[in-house]
Amino acid sequence: MSARSEQALVAHGLSKRFKTGRTFIEVLKNVDFDARHGDLTMVMGPSGSGKSTLVAALSGLLRPDTGEVQALGQDLWSLRPGKIDKFRLEHCGFIFQGFNLFAALTALQQVEIILKYQGLSKGQARERAVQALTEVGLESRMNMRPAALSGGEKQRVAIARALAKNPRLLFADEPTSALDGENGQIVIKLLQRAAKEHGAAVICVTHDPRLEAYADRVIHIEDGRILDDRRTARSAETIAAQTQPELAGA
Ligand SMILES: Nc1ncnc2c1ncn2[C@@H]1O[C@H](COP(=O)(O)OP(=O)(O)OP(=O)(O)O)[C@@H](O)[C@H]1O
Ligand SMILES: [Mg+2]
Repeated sequence: MSARSEQALVAHGLSKRFKTGRTFIEVLKNVDFDARHGDLTMVMGPSGSGKSTLVAALSGLLRPDTGEVQALGQDLWSLRPGKIDKFRLEHCGFIFQGFNLFAALTALQQVEIILKYQGLSKGQARERAVQALTEVGLESRMNMRPAALSGGEKQRVAIARALAKNPRLLFADEPTSALDGENGQIVIKLLQRAAKEHGAAVICVTHDPRLEAYADRVIHIEDGRILDDRRTARSAETIAAQTQPELAGA
């Protein structure tokens, strides 16, 4: 089996409920999920259907009430909290719905700081951060702090920060929600490249139908359950290109 089709994430029986006042709401209802290296997997569904909660449970951010997550072969939720943090730092990239930028840091520093935590030298961190910010079109905004950036620019800083790590698992929650068509397209192509060139498993939550054309797999979630899970025509092309290079003109 090629490295590209290896399972990156396998989750079984995930459930999560939240208490609101006196009642509980069940946000994830016995969800099974998997994602492969080299795939751009898209998760779609109405607001409130549990998408962000699912991503949080898959990525070590929010402990599910039941179920287990095998991430890169490790039983994520059986690890001690410190080990889960370390796993996220080493292997996961995140693009959050609310961007989660540090108010006091410039765009360049936001990206650099994560790379330094990962153990890169100052010089390497600077070089990679500049490259990642340039790729998202922010070369002229590198020394600005979040307060001076537009919504779309903040979103692109968050994307640069996640991509610069070159993570094995990349979680993106509405990564194009604040972007115009052109920048949205740049970003989705970068996510696709993370999957195709670096073999990351990219899990992307979105409402944006334009992104569907770039996905290998589309999963629909509604009311805490997976309703539909299909591989796209693009994915069939990719598989053909991998197994029969002559058909893809390679
Ligand atoms: N910490 C919490 N406490 C109580 N309820 C919560 C909590 N987090 C999420 N919920 C509820 O769980 C449901 C699912 O939330 P979630 O954020 O996963 O939805 P979503 O599919 O990502 O929606 P959106 O598309 O609007 O981002 C919502 O009804 C939300 O109000
Ligand atoms: Mg959400």
